[in-house]
Amino acid sequence: MFAFQLWREFKLSLWEIYQLFPKIKITYADKNVCILDTQNKNEILKAAERIGGTIKIIELIEWYRGKPEYTILDAWESHEWKFAYGLSVLGWESNLKAMLMDIKKTLKAKWLSSRFINKDFKNLSSAQIIWENLVRRASDFTLIIADDTQYFGKTIWVQDINAYSKRDYGKTRDMQVGMLPPKLSQMMINISLWDKIYDPFCGLWTILIESILMWNQEIYGSDISAENIEKTKKNINFARKEFDNSLKTSMTQVLDAKWISSSPFLKKSNTIVTEWYLGQVFHKHSISEDKIREEKKLLMDIYVKFFSGLQRANYTWVIVICFPFWEIRGKYHYFNEIYDLIQKHSKNLPILPKLDAFKHTRSGSLLYKRPDQVVGREIFKLKIR
Ligand SMILES: C[S@@+](CC[C@H](N)C(=O)[O-])C[C@H]1O[C@@H](n2cnc3c(N)ncnc32)[C@H](O)[C@@H]1O
Repeated sequence: MFAFQLWREFKLSLWEIYQLFPKIKITYADKNVCILDTQNKNEILKAAERIGGTIKIIELIEWYRGKPEYTILDAWESHEWKFAYGLSVLGWESNLKAMLMDIKKTLKAKWLSSRFINKDFKNLSSAQIIWENLVRRASDFTLIIADDTQYFGKTIWVQDINAYSKRDYGKTRDMQVGMLPPKLSQMMINISLWDKIYDPFCGLWTILIESILMWNQEIYGSDISAENIEKTKKNINFARKEFDNSLKTSMTQVLDAKWISSSPFLKKSNTIVTEWYLGQVFHKHSISEDKIREEKKLLMDIYVKFFSGLQRANYTWVIVICFPFWEIRGKYHYFNEIYDLIQKHSKNLPILPKLDAFKHTRSGSLLYKRPDQVVGREIFKLKIR
């Protein structure tokens, strides 16, 4: 069995896991963790290369005796050097200090030299696990408290946070347009389930670049701005040279998405994964209901033509797309007008069908929002009628 530690937006993480492993039974899920009932470690590690919403993957130990100190002791016996380890608790973190002290005592009583990495008796971050090389040393342990069952295991994979920052090196980002986080792009691509990605608002090329890094062989992008298409081309070339990939075809062109039905990429791609303009960059003090109304009007004009264009072109593939929503003084304001448009032209595809405990929104979407921002993203998986 394997446990996936989930990211802050855990429902999106679960949706992605569910799509990546449709045949594996999920035996437990909460907002921290999800447990998959499989022995196939290779399949898990292969999928991990392209996963966006999982922090770390833990191989659960079958012979867990309910006492972490003994299990850690068993693991220690295969180590020659001073034993450096980490221990995290998912589900009941307040107990961590007592556990770490107990383990230390047990190891000391056996004259074993050891050191725990945990700082201030807190769970380890991905950065600490990477820095201390704990995956290779097989000594990052996690105790999971899941209802009335406890699981214990060691980390076999951790999200490479350094790789994410490497993607953001000398690239020409236009922060005014609002960057789509690479992790969210990965999740949207995984959620689409297909591999020939077309982004008709590809301006900042995050989706296309993530698609290259996920070993997809074909990517297509269009955008109204010739300047952004030039930047996209440059960055595709950059990614091709800098990162391992298997890209064979990449095509881009200038196109107003209002005229999407004329796009040659509708026939070449097998999914649209996209995010359009999220509107102005609002701050807590500059956002208001009037401004949101203006924004919506602007956006609707394009979306009406975009969706009817797709219907006219008889586009039958899956579309994963996000729309904005806004927060004013703690209250979310949704893009209600878009719901009618979606209903008119498309149908929602299911989210988390087997995990009834986690509900999607009333409109059949999942939300992504950083706590410090006032604009969030509402993510849909759609199919044109
Ligand atoms: C927020 S960016 C999109 C982010 C991008 N999907 C990514 O992966 O980073 C929005 C882009 O939409 C483009 N755009 C705006 N209006 C458009 C239209 N009518 N048709 C096509 N592209 C448009 C802008 O030029 C801009 O590059």
